[in-house]
Amino acid sequence: MQALYACLIETMEKQAAVQGSDRVMLASWMQSDLSESRDFAGWKNFATAPYISFTHGERFATNHANDIAAERYGQYENGQPMPAGGIVAKPTFSINAAGEALWETLFLMEKAESGTSPDTNDWIYSAVMPDGALMGRTLGQNSEGMAFCAACHMSMGADNDDMIFLPEDYRVQN
Ligand code: HEC
Repeated sequence: MQALYACLIETMEKQAAVQGSDRVMLASWMQSDLSESRDFAGWKNFATAPYISFTHGERFATNHANDIAAERYGQYENGQPMPAGGIVAKPTFSINAAGEALWETLFLMEKAESGTSPDTNDWIYSAVMPDGALMGRTLGQNSEGMAFCAACHMSMGADNDDMIFLPEDYRVQN
């Protein structure tokens, strides 16, 4: 599963580099207007292997954190609130009947400056579809459609600045 994931990431980055590639649909998130959708593959992955996320479409998922977020994210339930500028990306993929792995939705949580979004504890939630189109973003396009993200995270992650982390068996330990 780790080898498959490495291959998926490599393929996505390669395809993004090939101008006019007709297979570019697979590179999908690389077409997104959100820079974090294009950059996350280079961020530290905190999942030792992809795991099934029942709360995010029952797809395989991993959790990448950018440089600002990485130290805090790796402390899991033992840390302070996430500093502003910290971003966690949760790419998901599925495996079809033919055994092909296909990217699904990319989920993003970005901690904004204090006071930016009081209703969501200053977390900006985004969902990017496999073709790179934005499904929604807190305070942006279809903001109300992202309210359920905050609702679940604020209840399940209340003690950890709304972060819920990943199943313990799959956590990279620093
Ligand atoms: C019903 C509850 C629920 C909903 C709704 C939900 N999440 Fe999550 N989220 C979780 C859980 C549980 C985890 C921990 C990993 C796992 O089990 O998938 C998580 C983890 C994450 C993470 C990794 C950061 C962290 O908290 O550790 C991101 C990013 C994320 N979710 C984004 C979103 C976005 C964006 C939406 C809305 C489009 C959303 N989530 C909706 C429950 C939810």
